[in-house]
Amino acid sequence: KPEYSILLLGGDGIGPEVTAEAAAVLDQLSASPNARATFKFVPRAFGGCSIDEHGVSVTEETLEQGKKCDAILMGAVGGPKWDGKRRGFEGPEGATLRLREVTDVYANIRPTEYFPQGKSPLREELVRGTKYIVLRENCGGAFYGPKVEEPDYASDLWSYKRSEIERIARMAATLALSPAVPVKKVISCDKANVLASSRIWRRIVEETITKEFPDVELVHQLADSATTLMMTKPSMFNGVIVADNTFGDILSDLAAVIPGTLGVLPSGCLADLPAPAWTPGLKPVKGFFEPVHGSAPDIAGQGIANPIGAILSAALMLRYSFGLFEEAKAIEDAVNLTLESGLRTKDMGGSSSTKELGSAIRENLKKLL
Ligand code: NAD
Ligand code: IPM
Ligand code: MN
Repeated sequence: KPEYSILLLGGDGIGPEVTAEAAAVLDQLSASPNARATFKFVPRAFGGCSIDEHGVSVTEETLEQGKKCDAILMGAVGGPKWDGKRRGFEGPEGATLRLREVTDVYANIRPTEYFPQGKSPLREELVRGTKYIVLRENCGGAFYGPKVEEPDYASDLWSYKRSEIERIARMAATLALSPAVPVKKVISCDKANVLASSRIWRRIVEETITKEFPDVELVHQLADSATTLMMTKPSMFNGVIVADNTFGDILSDLAAVIPGTLGVLPSGCLADLPAPAWTPGLKPVKGFFEPVHGSAPDIAGQGIANPIGAILSAALMLRYSFGLFEEAKAIEDAVNLTLESGLRTKDMGGSSSTKELGSAIRENLKKLL
């Protein structure tokens, strides 16, 4: 049975608190008698804590480990301690940006869904049955274009080329055909009415999906009005929302309104189409897994952060990098069982600690393995 190496990057703020719970879940899977794979962690400082320790937000050695390891599990980076000094590629956040870049994890999968035990501020009859993936292009666009930063002028070049759009369009259609979403539909969000980079986006998404994936319904939606529709008619997005790096960043945080807290949303960035169902010797697909939320400086160190986003990110790793579908599903079921039992962290209206929730999830997982 394979032993997968995982670069473990706790990061800053609540990052180490939530990744500890996700790593404990993977340790429990490794130890289970039915384990089909085991996991070995390679821990490194990352983000603000790496600036403190090494003077840079990510060392060259950590970037090399990112390329070498089978997958990456990250908490979050950044915080007020480092704000204002260095930002962008120089700041803590630059660690995430550079590691995504060197591992070329271009497809950022950010699923969301409504669940009755959650705390959605939207009316039940509106959000019931809502389940979609926000697929964010992760290695191009305004985040990575050449930058100019002068005291009285600044710019970020927002550009896309054909090959970058084709590969993310293929990923969107592949996910739309998977059981992860209830409808074989791709909703592509852009600003083709204004931005040239959105016009090439729309043209090539249209070409690629209609030619290569005739069974997938494709809809284009302007990104600004998409935000209103995501709140007023959420279930029309059932399927896969595909968007460029900037719009995808914003739309994926908006998707947290469906469950009602950022604390439960997982994310996984893949460098290739997902792994097929597990077979011995399968070559894993490189992936960088991290919750959608940030380092939450307002609650860091209190032991009350919601670990579900990080734990579900580990489930995405098993499904999409390693093809371990049953194990991924078992983790998701264990999370649901735990919520059904009434345990919740503060962001969901409860009073459980991060550790209490994590260990209850592992207890439920034990019953399912
Ligand atoms: P944030 O996601 O850290 O926090 C937004 C709100 O959500 C806060 O009130 C916070 O307490 C709450 N929240 C977030 N995660 C939670 C959890 N697991 N449990 C309970 N509540 C949770 O966003 P922000 O405040 O805009 O950013 C804070 C810092 O994090 C910034 O430095 C930002 O750059 C960084 N950031 C990092 C990442 C990353 O590394 N992947 C992602 C987003 C933001
Ligand atoms: C995210 C975050 C990051 C991003 C930052 C921290 C670099 O907001 O993962 O959504 O913008 O990609
Ligand atoms: Mn973000």
